[in-house]
Amino acid sequence: MDKLIIRGGNRLSGTIPISGAKNSALTLIPCALLTEEPVTLRNLPRLADIDGFQHLMTQFGVSHTIPGKRPEDFGRVVTLEAMRITSSVAPYDLVRKMRASILVLGPLLGRTGEATVSLPGGCAIGNRPIDLHLKALEAFGAEIELAQGYVKASAPDGGLPGGDFDFPVVSVGATENAVMAAVLANGTSRLFNAAREPEIVDLCNLLVAMGAEIEGIGTSDLTIHGVKTLNGATYKVMADRIEAGSYACAAAITGGEVRLEGACAEEMQATLHALRNIGVEVESDKHGIDVRADGPLKPVNLSTAPYPGLATDMQAQLMSLLCRAEGTSVLKETIFENRYMHVPELNRMGADIETEGRTAIVKGVGRLTGAEVMATDLRASMSLVIAALAAEGETQVRRIYHLDRGYERLEEKLQLVGADIERVGDD
Ligand code: UD1
Repeated sequence: MDKLIIRGGNRLSGTIPISGAKNSALTLIPCALLTEEPVTLRNLPRLADIDGFQHLMTQFGVSHTIPGKRPEDFGRVVTLEAMRITSSVAPYDLVRKMRASILVLGPLLGRTGEATVSLPGGCAIGNRPIDLHLKALEAFGAEIELAQGYVKASAPDGGLPGGDFDFPVVSVGATENAVMAAVLANGTSRLFNAAREPEIVDLCNLLVAMGAEIEGIGTSDLTIHGVKTLNGATYKVMADRIEAGSYACAAAITGGEVRLEGACAEEMQATLHALRNIGVEVESDKHGIDVRADGPLKPVNLSTAPYPGLATDMQAQLMSLLCRAEGTSVLKETIFENRYMHVPELNRMGADIETEGRTAIVKGVGRLTGAEVMATDLRASMSLVIAALAAEGETQVRRIYHLDRGYERLEEKLQLVGADIERVGDD
């Protein structure tokens, strides 16, 4: 297994190209199940999770071609074609590797009237139930059975009638599944208190391009008028706002100056607001965002929340940055119950962080020091890379398969702006 070796202290400076959004891609790919015609996605990031999801799609009879692009280019173009669905079963072996596999449930049910998907199980950041995915589909008229670790969803003869569902908790994945199931329902479906993350807007925009009828895009109340069939489309995946935010933290912790080429400021206002309060200069135009940090970093109090609040996926990276602030910050994680796994590792690098339940108290320290560290999830791993960039001496980050799931060519992008980082085989 590979590891990253990072020698901290270099001030980052230059331009980092921002990739297509992983979380968006993971909900756009299963949309191909909704039509017989080809769906072409541009700007797909090259990531282990995306490869895994494409592989899962072949299970249902989806063919994919990767036209044209040179392997060294960022952003991949993939055409997915589900002329005929040959199976509507997502087996445990494929689902357990990737929680997002649950996102095939809605589109398979919508297209074929049935879907059998393995329950994804727990993950490092918490219990992560899927009850809301199932309740929304039931509200649309699906029958749900749970047996032998599988969810079996079926629609009445003639397809899903459609219906209304009011989410008791905002859920990104459950909203995505519900929208993908509703677009081919016989009637109209309404979702209240739906998630309105930019990735959901991206999903709705692709579906509209495929002929779906959706009202309220970008709001928490969505009305979806089912249509008989959908057509194919060509669509560009939005920029990854979490990747952009992560590199903004990386630049800031080194007192650097970096342009995030392709990032969209409008979709990451809460992160940019937090960075400005920390003392980072942020400017944006329609092609990207510039961040610059040459003064002292200030402590802040932050709380994660559903969009448009501060993304839970930015919590760990901002925490690393706050380790170098002049004073004490308080962070509150309101989305997942177990998302402070990076704290003990950051403390091993000289940070001074205490947690109590969902609150973390981060006392700024004069210096961080390199250490051997490893993390248990994607964003936690990135927080260690960020800390390492500012730490004295060498840090070794192990278990980097987490990073490969979500950051396209991480070390290459950081090298572009002057980081001393390399990937080596683990001993
Ligand atoms: C998605 C993102 C993940 C991000 C998260 C929150 C993808 C592939 N992943 O995950 O990176 O951290 O949104 O922004 O897009 N919940 C339930 N029942 C359910 C579903 C969720 O109780 O059926 C709870 C969860 O336990 C959690 C909260 O709702 O406390 C939000 O989770 P959700 O928005 O569903 O996260 P994911 O879609 O899994």
